[in-house]
Amino acid sequence: MAKSAQEAIQNLSQRMKNPDGLSDGQIRNRRSVYPKAATPDPKPRRRVAFDDLFKSEAGKVCQAYEVIPQVACIVQYFLRDWKFGEGIVSNQPDLNKGLYVHGTFGTGKSMIFGIMHEIGRRLILEHGYQGMWFTSVTAPWLVEEYMKSTDRSYMGNFDFKSYTRGPLYIDDLGMERPAFGRDDVIADLLFERHRNQARTFITSNLSPQSFSQKYGPRLGDRLPEAFNIIEFTGKSYRE
Ligand SMILES: Nc1ncnc2c1ncn2[C@@H]1O[C@H](COP(=O)(O)OP(=O)(O)O)[C@@H](O)[C@H]1O
Ligand SMILES: [Mg+2]
Repeated sequence: MAKSAQEAIQNLSQRMKNPDGLSDGQIRNRRSVYPKAATPDPKPRRRVAFDDLFKSEAGKVCQAYEVIPQVACIVQYFLRDWKFGEGIVSNQPDLNKGLYVHGTFGTGKSMIFGIMHEIGRRLILEHGYQGMWFTSVTAPWLVEEYMKSTDRSYMGNFDFKSYTRGPLYIDDLGMERPAFGRDDVIADLLFERHRNQARTFITSNLSPQSFSQKYGPRLGDRLPEAFNIIEFTGKSYRE
């Protein structure tokens, strides 16, 4: 019982703050008696909204990025949507094949792979998901590095063999200088990758016919079985 009006008010205000009428210490003790909640997953999986990632990365590289049907098709491919490619892939669409993206200069071929590459990087770093990752090189760079690496005085760490496995994007295929006067560095690489069943993504100004002429029919004839062939037909964004 409260001895005075003041004490009664104090008790009341304490109860209002603490409806059980228990002190913090009592609550702490009481809680330890209750069964503990199940231990939460130490690394809860966060749901990734791919569309948000895409908008954010596209917005970084281009103010008004346009999702043309070819772009949508490539995105669907990376999302492993088996319905991808209808009306866009000119041969038989197949998620197990790579991508051969060709078309004239400035139509947005390299940009979509740049965006997807950045998304793949973020999915690894921020979410520990490796499924959308691929290595990215340009054909001219690859051939230059290859030539340098064959020099006796070469001190770098370029390893041509490491490019024969794992998902790889090769930009500007056909723009490379012939290594030591021959065209077969890229052809050998593509052949070796095909043998290893490694998925390759290519962007090039070369149509499949020009590809065949440049790298030979041995590789050219295999293009449709190894790649989903997509043409970027729009006008150049660079004009
Ligand atoms: N989908 C797109 N919507 C709007 N602008 C684009 C788009 N794709 C590319 N661009 C613009 O066009 C430029 C050239 O694109 P790029 O991908 O380098 O062409 P390509 O590789 O086909 O020669 C980019 O730097 C960008 O400014
Ligand atoms: Mg390009």
